[in-house]
Amino acid sequence: MKAKIYANKNLPIAKIDKRIYGAFIEHLGRAVYGGIYEPSHETADEEGFRQDVLEMVRELNVPIIRYPGGNFVSAYKWEDTVGPVEERPRRLDLAWKSTEPNEIGLHEFARWAEKAGSEVMMAVNLGTRGLQEATEVVEYSNHSEGSYWSELRKSHGRDKPLGIGIWCLGNEMDGPWQVGHKTAYEYGRLANETAKALKLFDSKLELVVCGSSGCGMPTFPEWERQVLDESYENVDYISIHMYLENAKDDLETFLAAPLSMDKYIEEVIHACDYIKAKKRSEKTIYLSFDEWNVWFHSNQQDQNIYKNKPWQVGPSLLEDIYTFEDALVVGMMLNTLIRHSDRVKIACLAQLVNVIAPIMTENGGPAWKQTIYYPFQYASRYGRGTAIRLMVDCPSYKNEKYGDIPYLDVAAVHNEETGVLALFVINRNRESAVSLDFQLDGFEEFRLDEHKVMVHEDNKAVNSKDDRDNVVPRDGSGIAYEKGQISGEVLPLSWNCIVLS
Ligand code: AHR
Repeated sequence: MKAKIYANKNLPIAKIDKRIYGAFIEHLGRAVYGGIYEPSHETADEEGFRQDVLEMVRELNVPIIRYPGGNFVSAYKWEDTVGPVEERPRRLDLAWKSTEPNEIGLHEFARWAEKAGSEVMMAVNLGTRGLQEATEVVEYSNHSEGSYWSELRKSHGRDKPLGIGIWCLGNEMDGPWQVGHKTAYEYGRLANETAKALKLFDSKLELVVCGSSGCGMPTFPEWERQVLDESYENVDYISIHMYLENAKDDLETFLAAPLSMDKYIEEVIHACDYIKAKKRSEKTIYLSFDEWNVWFHSNQQDQNIYKNKPWQVGPSLLEDIYTFEDALVVGMMLNTLIRHSDRVKIACLAQLVNVIAPIMTENGGPAWKQTIYYPFQYASRYGRGTAIRLMVDCPSYKNEKYGDIPYLDVAAVHNEETGVLALFVINRNRESAVSLDFQLDGFEEFRLDEHKVMVHEDNKAVNSKDDRDNVVPRDGSGIAYEKGQISGEVLPLSWNCIVLS
């Protein structure tokens, strides 16, 4: 089985915005309590942050982290989260049937993000609250001094503004499950007025309006049309969310599913550009793919917690344990983001610690890396620079749900600064290796630096605290590079990162 691939240095897709390697921390389950924060843990620093977790987050090099939700934000009272910790109220979180102790609030999370080397992408509550509270939290966070909210921040020990430059206008407001769910018109009006007010405060703020919470929503894409019709000139990005699953244990379909991410992105772009044309606007709306991942393993266990043990602090919710095949799908989702880097400028792996996450912890115990950690780590490390257009001619298989599926999923990124060209290649074929006839025009002088491969004889293999290196990238063999030509083959059912410089 052979694939012919052609790339040319002079045929780029776009300069990649590094923020496509963002992630997400929600006040949900053990993401915060027992995840990033556990003051009694042996690795905790003076602020209670787990150093073992921070180290793994730093290794992922995540430029931006969305916070504090998610569904959680739709009943969020940000004022509860600032000021002396001992005076902060404990609140019931309706979204996740949990108790929020507010030990970690706005200031603490901003500190943690600084330590992680990440920018905060903050969401405002447009579910139970509105414009007034949104302007107040922005003023509290970003105004230097001399106003009520900025002085309050200073009195809480933070002299310098938090400087949060990007704000989400609510979360998944199309979803009937959302506290304060709205129709497209209601939300579009509220989002527009909120955006207008925030831009009066600071025209440089970047604002993300809620798109649909999934392409399967009955209101998609009419939601996008109406919301953008109301808010187009005051917002910069529209959000897009997608979770893939293999609940029926049908690997061929699961491996084909990332193609639906391509389709979804293109459909949202069309909705944006329709409104652009309708309004005769010069402005382009970009996409913030601010929730994406595989999510299904923990569904049943979660139902049990909601039903039998609600209102806990830091319950074990959404703790998907990821398999080798999930890592392949995550690798393909990353490739999709790279190939759409002309319009997707922000993306957040949902989420980062414990909750549908690449990093798992045990309370009082170790932290370890799930299978999906690795494709993300390599994409974040080598996937910065310019995405290169690829022509891929490769054998395919037929899938009932998604149609004709090429066996290979490929993305290429050239980093002009480091002089590195990275190729991310996933082989969906379970039985056959695929041999590569890969021509790279303009890269003739490059040499093969590294070939990492993830393969496993068991598709359901996972990493655990006792077996941390079961599914990890290892050195590959059998790939050669000479004068602009890659030859060799990629193994059946494998993820590959080929690095040239
Ligand atoms: O990431 C988990 C949840 O998925 C988020 O809270 C919500 O926005 C989405 O439905």
